[in-house]
Amino acid sequence: MDTVGLTFDDVLILPRRSSVVSRSEVSTHTHLTRRIRMAIPLVSAAMDTVTEADMAIAMARCGGIGVIHRFNTVEEQVGHVRKVKRAENIAIEEPYTIGPEATVAEAEEMMETRDVSGLLVVDEDRRLLGILTRRDILFRAPLERVGKCMTPRERLVTAPPTIGLEEAKKLFMEYKVEKIPLVDGEGRLAGLITSLDLVKKTMYPEATRDGRGRLAVAAAIGVRDEAFSRAEALVEAQADVLVIDVAHGHSEQVIRLLRRLRSVYGDDLEVVAGNVATPEGVEDLASAGASAVKVGVGPGSVCTTRIVAGVGVPQLTAVMMCAEAGERMGVPVIADGGIRSSADLVKALAAGASSVMVGRLLAGTDESPGSVVVRDGRKMKIYRGMASLFAMMKKDGRYGDDKLQDALEYSYMAEGVEAYVPYRGSVQDVVSQLVAGLRSGLSYVGARNLSELRERAVFIRMTEAGMRESKPHSIEQA
Ligand code: XMP
Repeated sequence: MDTVGLTFDDVLILPRRSSVVSRSEVSTHTHLTRRIRMAIPLVSAAMDTVTEADMAIAMARCGGIGVIHRFNTVEEQVGHVRKVKRAENIAIEEPYTIGPEATVAEAEEMMETRDVSGLLVVDEDRRLLGILTRRDILFRAPLERVGKCMTPRERLVTAPPTIGLEEAKKLFMEYKVEKIPLVDGEGRLAGLITSLDLVKKTMYPEATRDGRGRLAVAAAIGVRDEAFSRAEALVEAQADVLVIDVAHGHSEQVIRLLRRLRSVYGDDLEVVAGNVATPEGVEDLASAGASAVKVGVGPGSVCTTRIVAGVGVPQLTAVMMCAEAGERMGVPVIADGGIRSSADLVKALAAGASSVMVGRLLAGTDESPGSVVVRDGRKMKIYRGMASLFAMMKKDGRYGDDKLQDALEYSYMAEGVEAYVPYRGSVQDVVSQLVAGLRSGLSYVGARNLSELRERAVFIRMTEAGMRESKPHSIEQA
């Protein structure tokens, strides 16, 4: 037993001579996987009180990414992925359509359930007949036919599917329309461009996007029987990254699944695997084909793994050891869990993580699932560990059967707790504060980017007294 395990509060980073004049000079760009670049090193956790579509959209717009959790049906998870993919898009390739014989009531229901403001009206050969927006059906009787209320094709501005961004902007300016259907040479519907999507694209220049300009999104899978079919459905829905998300990632099951995914999808698929807390874990997962490895056994704010199982590695040491192995193997490492502040974020990145996964800090935002509750006059939201009793009961909507399989994914004893966290406003607010702290950390170390932070950071160990001195002290706080 010769290694001392340290965590964030055990250390500080030495300040170094710096030529950075302004915090705005530094870059926070990083890689999630070897291929996926991000403007900020933040990933939202694959937990049912943290990441569904709204969180993933907000994270991608900020320049990070969200991992849609897997504690739902495949259809639900795929629905979230699709919602992110449709959130901003130069062209929506398969816009929602309706036939001219459908009723106004049917159209209204479709707009409601799909959460869109308009439908394209097409015949059986997908030839564009018109467009139906909420304005077209205002005051219309529920049984009137769509074909009678729509704005017909001859009054629409349309464009060929090959139209570029700048040309599209010109059309929107010239005709002052909100939607431009794309039609091919035979008049068939080939897509839709909306002015809102173009505005959003210019509003979020740092957003994490796929090759087609859509927001990027990751999605979690487990290792049980359904994992492969879930993976297939998520790939089909064009999730950018799959995350094999299990408590003990250094396992034969994960290695087998990784190999199977690689053999079916080749190098095209981005797969993150975890969680591990040792260099051997990183090596084995990287050798089996992981595009990045997630590190953290027990550091999370709602985790009780270490207390229940007596297993884990304090997170700073885990990240340092694993990042070294990641570098050797050429895979980025994601530090998962235990981040309570921007200081922890800086330390995790200085220790070698390429990005950081965050649960609790994002659980109290507007974009996390669940509503705000008021407790003792304070606004709160619920946050729970995915191996907490409540979450385990909810998993697959059942509790009691399949215990053995559950035990393989998350150790069967409850290894998480459920908690209230303070309401924190929007994801944008939380992320801005974290990134401001990160920029500050970089400038104290004299680093212009995250790889310079890793190179230049020298940790110093601190005592309890040092920790006390680090916080506001010897005052009566106002
Ligand atoms: P933070 O500290 O950001 O951590 O809230 C989020 C991470 O915690 C992990 N997680 C769990 N770990 N039991 C555990 O041991 C659990 O019930 C549990 N639920 C989530 C997960 O890695 C997440 O990203």
